[in-house]
Amino acid sequence: MAQIELKSIHKAFGAVEVIKGVDLTITDNEFVIFVGPSGCGKSTLLRLISGLEEATDGAIIIDGEDVTGKPPAERELSMVFQSYALYPHKTVRENMGFALTVARMPRNDIAERVNRAADVLKLDALLDRRPKELSGGQRQRVAIGRAIVREPKAFLFDEPLSNLDAALRVEMRLEIAKLHRRLAATMVYVTHDQIEAMTLADKIVVLQAGRIEQVGVPIELYMRPANLFVAQFIGSPKMNVVDCSPTADGLTFPNGEAMVYDAPHDDARKVGIRPEHITLVPAGEGDITGKIDVIEQLGSDTFAYVDVDKVGLFTVRIVGHVELVEEATIGLRFDRDHIHLFDPQDNAIRS
Ligand SMILES: Nc1ncnc2c1ncn2[C@@H]1O[C@H](COP(=O)(O)OP(=O)(O)OP(=O)(O)O)[C@@H](O)[C@H]1O
Ligand SMILES: [Mg+2]
Repeated sequence: MAQIELKSIHKAFGAVEVIKGVDLTITDNEFVIFVGPSGCGKSTLLRLISGLEEATDGAIIIDGEDVTGKPPAERELSMVFQSYALYPHKTVRENMGFALTVARMPRNDIAERVNRAADVLKLDALLDRRPKELSGGQRQRVAIGRAIVREPKAFLFDEPLSNLDAALRVEMRLEIAKLHRRLAATMVYVTHDQIEAMTLADKIVVLQAGRIEQVGVPIELYMRPANLFVAQFIGSPKMNVVDCSPTADGLTFPNGEAMVYDAPHDDARKVGIRPEHITLVPAGEGDITGKIDVIEQLGSDTFAYVDVDKVGLFTVRIVGHVELVEEATIGLRFDRDHIHLFDPQDNAIRS
């Protein structure tokens, strides 16, 4: 389908630059997900690719062709938004075929494309209904169907599932994964949802304030974040990060407790450990000692929030149901295979 290249893309609204030089290659059939805090420029970047916004500087190349100055219609991309405004008085069939009707495609061809998309999206039985007779998930599928019938070079999704309830999101997430496999299409997808990003993406792009912080396959970002921002952005609950001082054989925490560690580094100023990489042990037997502040029982997991005086609050994730006592003094042991060290510039130290 399509390879999309962004070359040194800048975008300013008036005097405010919101995209500050983005270079990115999205290869054919790749599923690329943009994540980042609210306002970092995810939607703007997607709209720049689609042609709904014009870049202030830089170039956008689709399949080798420079489309930077071209209007959306000439880029042959389909965009699916969070709010999927369907025409209320048109049927599902009419909604899905509308763009093709406007483009004066022969009716038989439209019918064929709509039927094919309906088959892929399991909308066959709903083609004669109107949007108000559909569930949220079904409406979202119609919005995707409307994009599919145009047979675009690539699909651009801007938080397509964020209006759905939790159960529907899971269902649609699986549908989108299957859709990507079946259509073998290039997809660029914006989400706030960690699970969507981790499970759907071939490649995640982490953005902050208009710049790319890191690009990589999901597990790479989780295992080897390049810096503190990515370390704390990828993963839920987020990575615990506290101050530390390097020693000859490890590090010390601000409360004076020490941790022996086989790859000490003189530049270590902060140490990070994910909630799932901490084990609770009797006080005195761990790397650091704290007091259980709050316990959350989810059934599948138990979360303990452990307050360590002068150091900070640690989130600890224990798989399964464990009985713990609030206010108890307890030790935390850190899994040595999953220690993250950060230098004074907050860049990850690679051992
Ligand atoms: N048309 C516009 N005019 C002026 N500023 C804009 C315009 N569109 C977006 N911005 C600004 O650009 C920045 C990036 O916005 P964008 O919508 O791309 O963020 P986002 O990452 O998609 O955020 P969210 O997660 O909240 O959707 C924001 O500071 C926003 O206020
Ligand atoms: Mg947005």
